Amino acid sequence: MTSQFQKKSEAWSARFSEPVSDLVKRYTASVFFDNRMAEVDIQGSLAHAEMLCAQGIITTQDHADIQRGMAQILDEIRNGQFTWLLDLEDVHLNIEKRLTELVGDAGKRLHTGRSRNDQVATDIRLYLRGAIDQIVGLLKDLRAALINLAEQNTDTILPGFTHMQVAQPITFGHHMLAYVEMFSRDTERLLDCRKRVNRLPLGAAALAGTTFPIDRERVAATLGFDAVCYNSLDAVSDRDFAIEFCAAAALIMTHISRMSEELIIWMSPRVGFIDMADRFCTGSSIMPQKKNPDVPELARGKTGRVNGHLIALLTLMKGQPLAYNKDNQEDKEPLFDTVDTLVDTLRIFADLATGIRVKPDAMRAAAFQGYATATDLADYLVKKGLPFRDAHEAVAHAVRTCVEKNCDLSELPLAELQAYSALIGDDVFEVLTLEGSVAARNHVGGTAPEQVRLAIARARAALN
Ligand code: ARG
Repeated sequence: MTSQFQKKSEAWSARFSEPVSDLVKRYTASVFFDNRMAEVDIQGSLAHAEMLCAQGIITTQDHADIQRGMAQILDEIRNGQFTWLLDLEDVHLNIEKRLTELVGDAGKRLHTGRSRNDQVATDIRLYLRGAIDQIVGLLKDLRAALINLAEQNTDTILPGFTHMQVAQPITFGHHMLAYVEMFSRDTERLLDCRKRVNRLPLGAAALAGTTFPIDRERVAATLGFDAVCYNSLDAVSDRDFAIEFCAAAALIMTHISRMSEELIIWMSPRVGFIDMADRFCTGSSIMPQKKNPDVPELARGKTGRVNGHLIALLTLMKGQPLAYNKDNQEDKEPLFDTVDTLVDTLRIFADLATGIRVKPDAMRAAAFQGYATATDLADYLVKKGLPFRDAHEAVAHAVRTCVEKNCDLSELPLAELQAYSALIGDDVFEVLTLEGSVAARNHVGGTAPEQVRLAIARARAALN
């Protein structure tokens, strides 16, 4: 007897009178990228089969055969012995075909009350749930590494910039904790997205549900889903959960990219604030002196491709009528590449953060050069009774003199400073030091070392 599957490799069924060309086969197939969902596909099938059996839709013998067959298939896949066939289009049909080879009719009964439409939606959700959990773990490692770096540098002073111009002194610990805040919000976003990912589409079948007496809640519980998707059309067609994930991923990469940009600038010999461990840099084939920060540069570059995947998925979805359309097969490669890029990048950055060597002298020298304590002088005058705008103006005149004399505000003699305001006393020099400046910003969210130490404790507590 010719099995239905043999016919299928030539044409889908008796409904078709000619086979598809090799080009169309290749064009429509997804097996060479969706086979990464093989394990979750099997997990979903086992939960479905268990429910079919519990509901009396298949026999316990069929159920046992399916379990036995799937165990073998899982082994074959893990050992690299499974043969994926383009002719069988996708991961779902490849596994089902092998199951039928192994256990006969029970394999053919597995698809009762199910469609590849709800099957694939379930697989993506299971896959993505695992990916989210992995990425949340990697973000935690990165946050921990940045917190450690902050802890080693609670008192290390560098210039803070606005418009890339020296603005006010800050502590390097405070600067690192700014990224910890970003990556903490990224974690929250992923965990929030996970709630919407963790819903069961299975039972929606092709689009309208099924005539079999299925128990969707049972399948949801088996697979660890929080609930079922409550509308069958929506369940098989929307991919908003994947889009949401890609949006969260794009933000993570954007934060990584901003950090990369800073690392690259800081490592430039013209700035020289940090050195990066050699294992994250490469040399030049022509210029022997070069040590290039390739890893952060690539991360900055890869941010573009992750942002692109988000746009790809949004565009994929926007024109689709309900319910499932084959367009949706195009959701996988952008999603998978987003996960792969994110996982690799976060892994590397957690390690990279531990290999950053801070150069406090260069940071300090730069902070000393840009009149970074000018605001402190203005604040000092305000505390002595001058309105802020007048104080601002008085200090601007003093800075102008310093520019002409090529010296720092703290290097002007008291008498000269007093020319700009009679309110200035000899207690001013304390205010003009870099240490005084950062220590004075001693409120929650401020850059004072004391606050940085408190922020580190908060960030550590939030890790657990
Ligand atoms: N490979 C398909 C996908 O990724 C599986 C669902 C196919 N369903 C269908 N009716 N053609 O979306």
